[in-house]
Amino acid sequence: MNTSEPLLSISLSVGYRGKSAVLRNVALEIAPGEVLGLVGQSGSGKSTLALAILRLLELKRGRAEGTANFQGRDLIALKESELRRIRGKEIGLVLQSPLSSLNPALRIGTQMFEAWGAHARGPSERRRHSVLEALASVSLPADDVFLQRYPSQISVGQAQRVLIAMAVLHRPSLLIADEPTSALDVITQSEILALFGKLNKEMGMAVLYISHDLLSVASLCHRIAILHEGVIVECGRVAQIFGYPVHPYTQRLVQAMPDKTALIARAPVARLAASAAVPT
Ligand SMILES: Nc1ncnc2c1ncn2[C@@H]1O[C@H](COP(=O)(O)OP(=O)(O)OP(=O)(O)O)[C@@H](O)[C@H]1O
Ligand SMILES: [Mg+2]
Repeated sequence: MNTSEPLLSISLSVGYRGKSAVLRNVALEIAPGEVLGLVGQSGSGKSTLALAILRLLELKRGRAEGTANFQGRDLIALKESELRRIRGKEIGLVLQSPLSSLNPALRIGTQMFEAWGAHARGPSERRRHSVLEALASVSLPADDVFLQRYPSQISVGQAQRVLIAMAVLHRPSLLIADEPTSALDVITQSEILALFGKLNKEMGMAVLYISHDLLSVASLCHRIAILHEGVIVECGRVAQIFGYPVHPYTQRLVQAMPDKTALIARAPVARLAASAAVPT
């Protein structure tokens, strides 16, 4: 049993106005440096959970009850001004539709400089250095030609990398990625997945990786939580979920997979566990 403090510990119920509860008593913990996969089918409440943690539900007329303790602070109870200092700085967020998340009228550089300026001050050389470093960390060209481009002048895969670069610009201790590969082709999907693994290892940042696809999370995550109709029905290490699924829904998911043995072998638990304080 790991005794280190979790980075994030949530216990939340969430609903939207005029609708019965979407998430019921969802309890999860993420350890520092851990990659936790959250898997569930469309409509199970995955994005709702991501937005609830960052308290971004109000615009959607949603409401969360419970607690989300992040490094000693309850995000649900914090003042909005305090939360603004955490969003984008201590917790990064990457969404699923890269091109609609970027402003089409502004150059990539302008948008990245703005993201830097939201949480940092300093001379323009420092700003430029941080932005170029972030671009390099996601394997994008770290040069002025790229910074001068508009979103319409880059590919969707590059746009997703820009958003990831913006999310890691301030080296957050937690990155929440909500289906970040769903708009991408298979090859680009696997490159982006590998990129999350690299950022986790190199920057030691914890990741809550949300997906409807159990197969993709298997290669990235230390543990997987299965969300079904607003309830976490099972949460465990990758080998455990694939080898010994307990809940009937998880069993159905695993049985629908093509080749479980190959998947378990691919799971990075053994490789990555040493670098993260993974709860058992
Ligand atoms: N603003 C809203 N008002 C009312 N209900 C909503 C609102 N937004 C989402 N919902 C409902 O909440 C439930 C969960 O939606 P959510 O977007 O969290 O699912 P998801 O698991 O992220 O699905 P997907 O995989 O398709 O992205 C769905 O039944 C959805 O219809
Ligand atoms: Mg969603």
